[in-house]
Amino acid sequence: MAGRIPQHFIDELLARVDIVEVVGSRVALKRSGRESKGCCPFHNEKSPSFYVNPVKQFYHCFGCGAHGTAISFLMEHDHLGFIEAVEELAGRAGLEIPREGPEAGPKDRRDDDLQALMTNVTQHYRSALGEDERARTYLKQRGLTGETVNRFALGFARNSWDDVLNTFGATAAGREALMATGMLIERDAQNARGAGHYDRFRDRVMFPIRDARGRVIGFGGRIIDQGEPKYLNSPETALFHKGRELYGLYEARQALRQVARLMVVEGYMDVVRLSQAGIHYAVATLGTSTTPDHLNRLFRVCNEVVFCFDGDRAGRAAAWRALENALPQARDGRQLKFLFLPDGHDPDTLVGEEGKEAFEARLETAMPLSEYFVQGLLQDIDLDSVDGRAQLAEKAKPLIARVPEGVYRELLLDRLAREVRMPAQRLGQLLGLTHRTDDAGQGGGLVGTQANGFPGGARVATASSGRPARPTLGQSVSPGRGNLVRQAITLLVQHPIAARGVRDGGELDGVERPGVALFLEMVAVLREEQIGTAQLLERFRGREEHPALERLAAAESLVPDATSATNELRDLYARLVLEFGPKQRQDALLTKAADLGLSPEEREELRQLQAKLRPKHPAAS
Ligand code: CTP
Ligand code: MN
Repeated sequence: MAGRIPQHFIDELLARVDIVEVVGSRVALKRSGRESKGCCPFHNEKSPSFYVNPVKQFYHCFGCGAHGTAISFLMEHDHLGFIEAVEELAGRAGLEIPREGPEAGPKDRRDDDLQALMTNVTQHYRSALGEDERARTYLKQRGLTGETVNRFALGFARNSWDDVLNTFGATAAGREALMATGMLIERDAQNARGAGHYDRFRDRVMFPIRDARGRVIGFGGRIIDQGEPKYLNSPETALFHKGRELYGLYEARQALRQVARLMVVEGYMDVVRLSQAGIHYAVATLGTSTTPDHLNRLFRVCNEVVFCFDGDRAGRAAAWRALENALPQARDGRQLKFLFLPDGHDPDTLVGEEGKEAFEARLETAMPLSEYFVQGLLQDIDLDSVDGRAQLAEKAKPLIARVPEGVYRELLLDRLAREVRMPAQRLGQLLGLTHRTDDAGQGGGLVGTQANGFPGGARVATASSGRPARPTLGQSVSPGRGNLVRQAITLLVQHPIAARGVRDGGELDGVERPGVALFLEMVAVLREEQIGTAQLLERFRGREEHPALERLAAAESLVPDATSATNELRDLYARLVLEFGPKQRQDALLTKAADLGLSPEEREELRQLQAKLRPKHPAAS
């Protein structure tokens, strides 16, 4: 992931791909006038209210309000990151992504090469499995069907020191690529056999680990029957980062149209076996504990995450570690739960014994994070002693501090306070936390129940923050009607070509009204380049204004066509200048001052206007 993707490339990409085709390959669409419509993939519905507009290159659901460009669609629907979505579209359009910055092109090409190598190795392992009776029997014994084996692309690494080496490492470059993907291990000259390379994976059942787009980036290998180590994993490489990847996430999204919940289990076999039993929403971390990065990924896909652990000591310890890592991700609207299995069982054995229904019934009894948190804290603490309370405070403090400020933290605190029979306020003091009763907006815990995944993390402002809103576009712009600036921006978003109606002579420069600076910025962009709605929106991705602009693009059109949009905007601009142009504004304020009097803010505004409008004298030198 080297270098920035240049904006002109995004422009070109969106001009080349057709959103109707992109969406149409994933959702059944029918023509309806100039648009196409279908049943919304983001919520359950029987009659179609999901529209794709080929002119704006934009989709919008009148049922649930989902909307965006082709890039947004892939991010939301396929749960891709921004870059991944661009890569997917570029692949479709047969375009190569240029990168800006020093280490641009070469590294990407190299990643592509390594990627291709991993694909070939996966195929190699798969055919080896077909030829090995013992490995096939082992998988059968473990209860796997051929269909499951194929769906997870399981394979077999032969009992050989140089099978992969000989097949893919004939040249020095080939060996070097195999080293870079972790498929080979280097042997130094001290070794009796002399310097060289040998296969990392030998005589193992191979589990390919795929990234969000389904590309193989690493492997887990299980020994057949007995032996040490039982599992061997690819090392960290340029392609493979254990702290980020989740085994089974790609397969889960392939199997399910909508992912309502994800369950984190410990092992490869658990994921595969659960999926075979019809539980397709299991994923596994790769021999590490769950990181905040993992959780971020999971919550991008759905709102409910269940951790599943063995009931033994090791399982409990792992669960508490998971809880500690989950606290920073805990917030209103996200459900985090813990499920403990009976001692001596893992999901693989359990679902094999009792089947899907019984296993899912267990899931319904999973413990919410808040409950597990309180239970875990109170364990071994005698609340009746002074010592006990001090102990509790000491244990709880660093944990609660990890939870983002906001409603969820308050709930945890309240819950704990009830348990220890102490007013929440006092407990908060005891823990050295200020118990915030009002203004909970700052930590952002309340808003955006799903991380939106935009680079830069734009956040949708909501009214629930309980704080008087700053006059940003987020609040002041509602689709359609409203003040002049809002209307002007709406016209620009919906009919970018209307920018030619604006003869920008700098009349509005420096006007500090919500949206004016944004409007001028958009005009400047559009006068420079002829781009459409989708491209315009992509320029603002990651900016605070982006969600509001998307909403405006989704709003009903104010005018029928580009010509009327241009006329309308010309008219609006003139009215804006009349209202906000500094000279006009000064006059209006002076009139009002003489008439009704000015508020302190208005007085300040007038003072600044007068300073600005005062004829400038050459500075004395
Ligand atoms: N693991 C690992 N290295 C090991 C052992 C385990 O990376 N030496 C990881 C693997 O991801 C494995 C998970 O921990 O899937 C769980 O390990 P374990 O409970 O020992 O194995 P099971 O999943 O029960 O595997 P199996 O059912 O095949 O025995
Ligand atoms: Mn097992």
